[in-house]
Amino acid sequence: MAETTLDLRQLPKDRAYLELTSHVESVLDGIDDEIAGMATISALLHHGFDHLWTGFYRVVQPSLLRVGPYQGTLGCLDIAFGRGVCGTAAAERRTVIVTDVDAFPGHITCDPRSRSEIVVPVLAGNGELMAVLDIDSDCTGAFDDRDRAGLERLVGWFARIERPSIRRV
Ligand code: SME
Repeated sequence: MAETTLDLRQLPKDRAYLELTSHVESVLDGIDDEIAGMATISALLHHGFDHLWTGFYRVVQPSLLRVGPYQGTLGCLDIAFGRGVCGTAAAERRTVIVTDVDAFPGHITCDPRSRSEIVVPVLAGNGELMAVLDIDSDCTGAFDDRDRAGLERLVGWFARIERPSIRRV
């Protein structure tokens, strides 16, 4: 099993996500646990791209996200659906790219160095919203459609696991 963290910073984004996705699938081969998946994907994404903050907010009540596995400085604990970028992505079940957090009304500041971010819904195999993946950068405009496509494909891993190791509401 390949266990090292890839350095993806010098690669074109589409190639970087292809390599990352195949690496994640190799590392998580035989693992059927969403928390292990979130922790592993956070670590590989965060260190592979050198992001500011990378992690998951899990759906723990019908309209509430709670922080899950992540890498970075202290994240806020609870986010209601509809609040901030994460809550917007969860409520609307769509990827949200924010090129400048100062221009996004209601953005929740956890780390003041954050300048741009992308939040991607994570769906279970039955189509239910399980979590969102939140990635922050200290540069404006760090994320684009190549990140959206690569990350949406990457989180497809969660739709394929047997689960559920955790009971959700
Ligand atoms: N930026 C997020 C809050 C979570 S932190 O960035 C870790 C938001 O506005 O949803």
